Amino acid sequence: MSAASSAISGAGARRGTGPLRELAAGAGTAPLLLGSISADAAVAVATGMDELDRVLGGGLVAGSVTVLGGEPGVGKSTLVLQALASAAARGRTSLLIAAEESGEQVRRRAERLEAAAEGCYLLATSDLDVVINAAGQLEPSILVVDSIQAVSDPSCGSQAGSPSQVRECAARLVRYAKSLGVATVLVGHVTKDGGLAGPRTLEHLVDTVLSFDGDRHHALRLLSASKHRYGPTGELGLFEMTEAGLKGLADPSALLLGDRRRGVPGSIVVPVLEGRRPLVIEVQGLVGAATGPPRRVAQGIPSGRLALLLAVLERRCQVALAASDVFVSTVGGLRVNEPAADLGVALALVSAVTGIAIGEEVVACGEIGLAGEIRQVQATERRLAEAARLGFRRAVVPRSAPDGPMELELLRAGTLLEAVRLLLGVDPAARSRSRTDSGSGLELSGGRDVRSLVRNPPSLVS
Ligand code: TYD
Ligand code: MG
Repeated sequence: MSAASSAISGAGARRGTGPLRELAAGAGTAPLLLGSISADAAVAVATGMDELDRVLGGGLVAGSVTVLGGEPGVGKSTLVLQALASAAARGRTSLLIAAEESGEQVRRRAERLEAAAEGCYLLATSDLDVVINAAGQLEPSILVVDSIQAVSDPSCGSQAGSPSQVRECAARLVRYAKSLGVATVLVGHVTKDGGLAGPRTLEHLVDTVLSFDGDRHHALRLLSASKHRYGPTGELGLFEMTEAGLKGLADPSALLLGDRRRGVPGSIVVPVLEGRRPLVIEVQGLVGAATGPPRRVAQGIPSGRLALLLAVLERRCQVALAASDVFVSTVGGLRVNEPAADLGVALALVSAVTGIAIGEEVVACGEIGLAGEIRQVQATERRLAEAARLGFRRAVVPRSAPDGPMELELLRAGTLLEAVRLLLGVDPAARSRSRTDSGSGLELSGGRDVRSLVRNPPSLVS
């Protein structure tokens, strides 16, 4: 910001526009020269919670309004309480409005989190007039309303929690935050489909929209910004939900790969990208003879993507799984929506069906097209650098992929079939032989034939 403003004033000086004029009229009523406006007001102040500050581009800006959205139970109240305690420990007065919980409940949570810091005030109310009054008296530097759906403005006719109440309350809090320069955070619940009266309706009103995600059955939590007027939106914050609250994860690999079993068929590691942050995760596949209608279970990847990969495996690699149960799972509760995981998923399934384990030092990244080709994905270099940093030594990548780090041997493959051959030792000559003998099928070096394994897949109960 300040660099931008000095660049503007510098350009103005070179063009001889003369000294910057301060217009006599008050702020907001008359135009000012852009270069004359101080950018200092938009300085982010760190909360001291590193993973939160990372996503916010440094911290909370005075007068800014942030919506923190997430499904119920994901840990929003825990996050804001820890953030307020951390900011309070750095000398910032904060006010937490508990509109859903009693003071005792919040106090108990604060004790559990060791977050009952001085300078951290609490008010349990759902009346917006009371909130604005209390904030006016205390003049905190950070105000958190938990949650925006639970507060209501008595002067607004509609019911608490209704879309118009939520919008009205948020609009009033935005005006308040801007006029007094209070960094304000509005907690909002969203349901899986975006949610009625959820933060979606508030997005245009506020400066920053954060979403807090994670699978309730897993400890990993992801914080990202989908809108941010004070910085970039690609950052990802990672936390582990523990007995003692949220712990920032500067290096999540221990959580994501810590329990990985070596030498088990059906497992591969994939460097995925969450925002701009590369994460190295394990993808697992399991295949077994179906006893009823074949089941397809995709945990952590879109089921449509699994269906596409099964079709490509069948039509382009002759690995037919139509009569098999197929399970795919990302480990750690992470949802991977990007097609960059395609190659890893397909290789995990081929590994599962053949019973040949993929080397533990191998990662794979690439999108798979309907013709069976492997396509390049964005930021391949960043993904490979992260894999190399974590000690992986070989990577299966599209033929056109850029060079990776020195310590990573690249196995370049143009098609899924080539990748299978490179990694699992399929003999392509045998493949054409088997085609002329009896239709189509892959023959593996060492005498294993994918077709026979597909016909008699390993039993799930073995
Ligand atoms: P909470 O912050 O209340 O979620 P939200 O405000 O998003 O609804 O926390 C939800 C869950 O987190 C709750 O079920 C218990 C769990 N939790 C922990 O595992 N450790 C903790 O230290 C705390 C405070 C909560
Ligand atoms: Mg809550």
